[in-house]
Amino acid sequence: MNEHPIGVFDSGVGGLSVLRHLQAQLPVEQFIYLADQGHVPYGSRSAQEIIQFSQGITQFFLQLNVKALVVACNTASAAALSLLREQFELPFVGMEPAVKPAAQQTQSGKVGILATGGTFASARYARLTAEYAKGVTVWEDPCVGLVPEIEAGRLDSLAVHQVLRQALTPMLAAGVDTIVMGCTHYPFVLPVVEGIVGTAVTIIDPAPAVARQTGVVLRQHNLLADGSQPGGVRFITTGAAEPYARQVERLLGLSGAGVETAVWHGDQLSVNGN
Ligand code: DGL
Repeated sequence: MNEHPIGVFDSGVGGLSVLRHLQAQLPVEQFIYLADQGHVPYGSRSAQEIIQFSQGITQFFLQLNVKALVVACNTASAAALSLLREQFELPFVGMEPAVKPAAQQTQSGKVGILATGGTFASARYARLTAEYAKGVTVWEDPCVGLVPEIEAGRLDSLAVHQVLRQALTPMLAAGVDTIVMGCTHYPFVLPVVEGIVGTAVTIIDPAPAVARQTGVVLRQHNLLADGSQPGGVRFITTGAAEPYARQVERLLGLSGAGVETAVWHGDQLSVNGN
């Protein structure tokens, strides 16, 4: 069991910003990264749809004998994580916007959260802000249109600059000094965000903490790989293989990434239609 892979999924390439930290912190683990690009973006879909996709993906990973599952998507975690934990006997690690660390770190008492509309609309996010953002003013922006730009590999386009400028300018004017990357796609446009907010603003990407938590969960369940085999990643998409391979190579700095495709049949997912 310890040598079994860890499943990681997102609506698309966003979760690769988490995978890179998982690989850095858990180098002898095997990962299977699934990008549900057939359904991206999740951010504008209903919670019901996202729950259905997340259940199908979890079943799929169980068939591939994963020992744990990292939901490398804030939107899917917000909609489906508590249900997945109830329904499946598998250790899960999820994502949530880093409201708590942001509220602890801010000096101005004003924090900005960049996440999807789906995440902002969730009960999980409402609970998070009610519990941890007491006494702090929270500015939110769903960055509409940003995920499709990142999925298309346009990390520095005019549209990316426009969406982020529109989101961040009012936050800066209000005195926000801490910005949370509440969507796993957004760290891939970090240089644009930094260019707009400058160096006086702290930007929080929760991915390193999520990778650390994954190590903690594996240790708790006695599931850490023993290092007798080298680590690695199997890349799977429910979209088109060729552009996905180029995205993986570019975003992770790899060359010659081998990718596989998976196909949805109703609620069920299988590799290469098998
Ligand atoms: N990367 C995802 C997240 O962390 C979802 C992006 C999307 O598909 O809208 O929320």
